[in-house]
Amino acid sequence: MILITGCAGFIGFHLAKKRLEMGELVVGVDNLNDYYDVSLKEARLKQLQKFPNFIFEKLDISDRDLVPDLFNKYKFTRVVNLAAQPGVRYSIKNPLAYIDSNVLGFTNVIEGCRHHGVEHLVYASTSSVYGANRCQPFSESQGVDHPLAIYAATKKCNELIAHSYSHLYGLPTTGLRFFTVYGPWCRPDMALFLFVKAMINNKPIKVFNYGDMVRDFTYIDDIAECVSRALDTPAKPNEHWNAMSPDPASSNAPYKVYNIGNSKPVPLMDYIYAIEKSLGRKAKLDKMPMQAGDVYSTYADVDRLEYDLGYRPKITLEKGVDQFVCWYQEFYSRAKNNIEKVMPFE
Ligand SMILES: NC(=O)c1ccc[n+]([C@@H]2O[C@H](COP(=O)([O-])OP(=O)(O)OC[C@H]3O[C@@H](n4cnc5c(N)ncnc54)[C@H](O)[C@@H]3O)[C@@H](O)[C@H]2O)c1
Repeated sequence: MILITGCAGFIGFHLAKKRLEMGELVVGVDNLNDYYDVSLKEARLKQLQKFPNFIFEKLDISDRDLVPDLFNKYKFTRVVNLAAQPGVRYSIKNPLAYIDSNVLGFTNVIEGCRHHGVEHLVYASTSSVYGANRCQPFSESQGVDHPLAIYAATKKCNELIAHSYSHLYGLPTTGLRFFTVYGPWCRPDMALFLFVKAMINNKPIKVFNYGDMVRDFTYIDDIAECVSRALDTPAKPNEHWNAMSPDPASSNAPYKVYNIGNSKPVPLMDYIYAIEKSLGRKAKLDKMPMQAGDVYSTYADVDRLEYDLGYRPKITLEKGVDQFVCWYQEFYSRAKNNIEKVMPFE
């Protein structure tokens, strides 16, 4: 039996579905918060609840009493922690939400793992931890000491806490640094969703840094495959790790971090072009300056991921964007030629 936190979220939903299809018993946890449209979370959950091997627990991982109860109630062999407050930009507005879910919540989950002999904790980190680093491609061996927003700082904090638990209690932990994930069922605050929604409604799209940004967009199926493989590969101590020249990517404790990115950085304007092609209409651009806390470009080195887990992301941007557009058009029904009002499609 595995635990997936954040199961009603974008990545958690896809991972849970994958593991349920494999016949695994999955306990999913989510607090269904209203950071974005709750009906989208409920619609994802509804899909998962069709599986007889799925159990849902509505719970906030920052609750110090309820998380230990959860670990007492079920015997989890492995745990994936995806519940978190995401988003770089919102972290500037509401930093404490990040401390609650990402620091306190994460600590409650790792404490549960420690006290209940969990075999492996896999957790979400982010490409944002690379922060001010401009040395690309980003490698797990580089230091990540210069976050540009509290969101990134809380994720780096998760990696640090994980290392201390791997060292102190021998708990195998694997941190996954996701690079801009996109695809069907994605978060409504993400560029692809915002762009497609605005373009269908003939509205302008906000293009930050006047369009001069680069992202290593990674398709959700590639992410779910990598997280699933990571879960099945408990971190082991690196016997070649040298304390005199410590490599941040591993340790003499059972601790690993991996980048999960497409390793093919795409200029933002090419991303917009792919959406235009898929939708068959031109975007109206509202060019804006760079937003506080954002990074200019991301590019993942995934050699370690491929070496250890035998997989590297491969879905092309064109195919991924088409898949999203198909899903979006099917999921949201049109109301008077206007899909501003989002209606889950049954
Ligand atoms: N989507 C990306 O591009 C991306 C990139 C880097 C990292 N990540 C990380 O991956 C993870 C999943 O991201 P996502 O895009 O699926 O986000 P999401 O917001 O769709 O999913 C997170 C889920 O966690 C739940 N949640 C939040 N706080 C909670 C709490 N305190 N207790 C219980 N449930 C809580 C939310 O209700 C939501 O359903 C997050 O940790 C995020 O930081 C995502």
